Amino acid sequence: MSGHHGDVTREGEVAAELPPATDAGLRFVGRIHTPFATRADCPHAGDREEGPDCVVEVFDDYAPALERIEERAHLQLLYWLHAARRDLLTQRRKGDGPVMGTFALRSPLRPNPIGVSVVRLIRREGNRLVVRGLDCLDGTPLVDVKPITCAE
Ligand SMILES: C[S@@+](CC[C@H](N)C(=O)[O-])C[C@H]1O[C@@H](n2cnc3c(N)ncnc32)[C@H](O)[C@@H]1O
Repeated sequence: MSGHHGDVTREGEVAAELPPATDAGLRFVGRIHTPFATRADCPHAGDREEGPDCVVEVFDDYAPALERIEERAHLQLLYWLHAARRDLLTQRRKGDGPVMGTFALRSPLRPNPIGVSVVRLIRREGNRLVVRGLDCLDGTPLVDVKPITCAE
């Protein structure tokens, strides 16, 4: 698991004592299914629209929000990196690398572990979107889906 932290704080890293979480009222709108069972299996970062087919399952309650989404070729997905620790303010990506500020990195370990990927929409099957370009664990909660173009 080199390159992955778990709960180990490496030399030079700063971990915060976090205040209690506030309730942002977030509602997960679905769940992402990928072939990646462990963090070590995940691509390091979404590789811009390629990689294996993954399935974005949108929960039934939110299915109407998918109306005409199949007209979009590229989507931006926001997801909750649920297995990430949230207290690291500086990080050493590898044991011998430089210490970097969390906000200077795309590391999954952050106070609010929101992941963002641009994916290619391959097809829609009802409330399931088959996409390519994801880098997240199987079972990652879905926060939002937005098209890449801003046309209303
Ligand atoms: C570097 S982050 C980037 C996430 C997103 N593409 C972004 O840029 O915001 C991707 C890495 O997060 C880790 N990861 C993926 N899914 C996760 C999850 N649900 N919880 C914690 N870590 C996760 C994996 O190690 C993966 O390689």
